[in-house]
Amino acid sequence: MNYIGSKYSLIDFLKSSVAKTLESNGETRAPNEMIFADLMAGTGVVSESFKQDGYSVIANDIQYYSYVITKHLIENDDNLDENRCIQLIDELNNLEGVEGFVYKNYCFEGTEGQEFRRMYFTEYNAKKCDAIRIAIEEKYKANLISENEYFFLLGSLINSIDKYANTASVYGAYLKKFKKSALKEMKLEPLPIVHGQVECKVYNEDISELIMQVSGDILYLDPPYNARQYCTNYHLLETIARYDNPVIHGKTGLREYAEQKSVFCIKNKVEETFAELIKNAKFKYIFLSYNNEGLMSCDTIERIMNKYGKYKLLFQDHRRFKADNARESKADMTVEYLHCLIKR
Ligand SMILES: C[S@@+](CC[C@H](N)C(=O)[O-])C[C@H]1O[C@@H](n2cnc3c(N)ncnc32)[C@H](O)[C@@H]1O
Repeated sequence: MNYIGSKYSLIDFLKSSVAKTLESNGETRAPNEMIFADLMAGTGVVSESFKQDGYSVIANDIQYYSYVITKHLIENDDNLDENRCIQLIDELNNLEGVEGFVYKNYCFEGTEGQEFRRMYFTEYNAKKCDAIRIAIEEKYKANLISENEYFFLLGSLINSIDKYANTASVYGAYLKKFKKSALKEMKLEPLPIVHGQVECKVYNEDISELIMQVSGDILYLDPPYNARQYCTNYHLLETIARYDNPVIHGKTGLREYAEQKSVFCIKNKVEETFAELIKNAKFKYIFLSYNNEGLMSCDTIERIMNKYGKYKLLFQDHRRFKADNARESKADMTVEYLHCLIKR
């Protein structure tokens, strides 16, 4: 998924930095003896990679769509039968489209006669998405699929439908003309089944609350860097994941999001929240990803982390997140920082 702040292309940098930091501290434990927590997990790529390396992963995100995808990637393993998964995907792909919530609110034909004629999906893809989403829920309620299969299918739907969205990559607006990828007929693609070595656990909570309940060895923090809220930029994925018929507003059909608004996106709150988080974290090694354009300065982060142990700053150049129609007004590269702390 083309997700704001995805660490897909920075995983090698993160992993080698974690390895060096642990080595410098004389760490001798094997990954499967350690807990790695990724508490703002987004697409789950970081969690997935550390799970594959054998760590016991704790993942979390405040957004439900992220929880669904990560719940599959991180908690599912040998408990899924691959052949049956493929069979279920085929079955869902063969469904006829249905005029459900996505069709009625987010495609041109379905919004006829309404104040806003939205163009997030083609008629075909909106109906297909509704048919698959409804069938997944019905199968689960009728005990025809297990909870593990439910999250596998729902995660696969969220990941798949995003590829057909008629947006410049986030859901804060739709394009006035259909782009090429949005015109293709939607096909449900299975998410991979990721194999690990030990038990892993996924949560859907505000990190400031969860941090009081969990402990472990390595804590990875990847908060939003700026004022762009994930709840508004990915509102449609949230609605497809929840499928809770929300009241929606305005041109973009935004759902209510007050409870998911992140304080990490609020200039006058982020510093205090971050300081509390570091204070409350019961982890030996803490790593924070942030860039040179974030709401907190490097000096502020260093001052906060330095109080709790041995601090070090690592960095790497990184290509800026780009929407399809991004203007070329600023430099394409940003500096991606990794703030490392070995807590006393
Ligand atoms: C930079 S993205 C993480 C990207 C992720 N590392 C990846 O590679 O896909 C930041 C994430 O933090 C989540 N988030 C923001 N505020 C949060 C909070 N208070 N508690 C938990 N998650 C939060 C957002 O929903 C978003 O998915």
